[in-house]
Amino acid sequence: MTSSRNRISKAVIPAAGLGTRFLPATKATPKEMLPVVDKPAIQYVVEEAVTAGLSDVLMITGRNKRPLEDHFDRNYELEEVLRTKGDAAKLTRVQESSDLATMHYVRQGDPRGLGHAVLCAEPHVGDQPFAVLLGDDLIDPRDPLLARMTAVQEEYGGSVIALMEVDPETIHLYGCAAASPTGDDDVVNVADLVEKPTAAEAPSNLAIIGRYVLDPAVFEVLRKTTPGRGGEIQLTDALQALASDPSLGGPVHGVVFRGRRYDTGDRGDYLRAIVRLACEREDLGPDFREWLREYVSKEM
Ligand code: G1P
Repeated sequence: MTSSRNRISKAVIPAAGLGTRFLPATKATPKEMLPVVDKPAIQYVVEEAVTAGLSDVLMITGRNKRPLEDHFDRNYELEEVLRTKGDAAKLTRVQESSDLATMHYVRQGDPRGLGHAVLCAEPHVGDQPFAVLLGDDLIDPRDPLLARMTAVQEEYGGSVIALMEVDPETIHLYGCAAASPTGDDDVVNVADLVEKPTAAEAPSNLAIIGRYVLDPAVFEVLRKTTPGRGGEIQLTDALQALASDPSLGGPVHGVVFRGRRYDTGDRGDYLRAIVRLACEREDLGPDFREWLREYVSKEM
């Protein structure tokens, strides 16, 4: 059992990417701010961290990312207008994102890859295990993954990555793991990792989805990691080094996720996420489902 002093409390969210898949929407707006129903995608990710008990959040940002800081800060002017109008419901919605977590920001400067973004978190994280959440992956709030990963990290030590079985034809979009079973049904030993392999090179159809709980030894490894796929410093390559030599920072395990995940960095999946989450909302769902049923039967 780990003492409460060692409980994982910090989450790191890399958010420096340019979001070119969503141009022109992302020309002047960070992709993380695109709404999924009525909340920016990034708010779901911060809420996920907080729900898993991680209320200290560090965002790795870059140029043009100021709206992210504003979103998680107070907006006194708007609050005052809503208070004067007596609109308590909207006031609550405005305050939700600023009351959520203790937010910190650091700029990545040179965009040298995900591994480099994580390395920028070292001064803030220190020598405790910490979580990394990638903003493009949206995990359905009803399928908790991160809390399971922190529990697995506390039991097994080392680092823990989230894995999901994908269609082998799409494995080239992900980091891929060679894994073997443990005594736990949803936990695997990770022996090998390769970033974005071709279908022929892939050791399995287990893809890394954007959730990690990392031993701080990863920083030392990242410092020594040379640019990999795409000329970028890859987090997957650092995790491969940890997996192949547990003396560096403990073993690497995977939690196999079988819940609902949306890739909000992909336009088709982004639309699917909005439709599914809107259908399931208590306030919007009933009307929207009725409209959707009619639309599909008449127009499609
Ligand atoms: C990153 C990681 C990759 C992982 C993916 C999950 O890639 O490098 O290993 O599978 O996130 O979304 P990206 O999608 O940022 O290119």
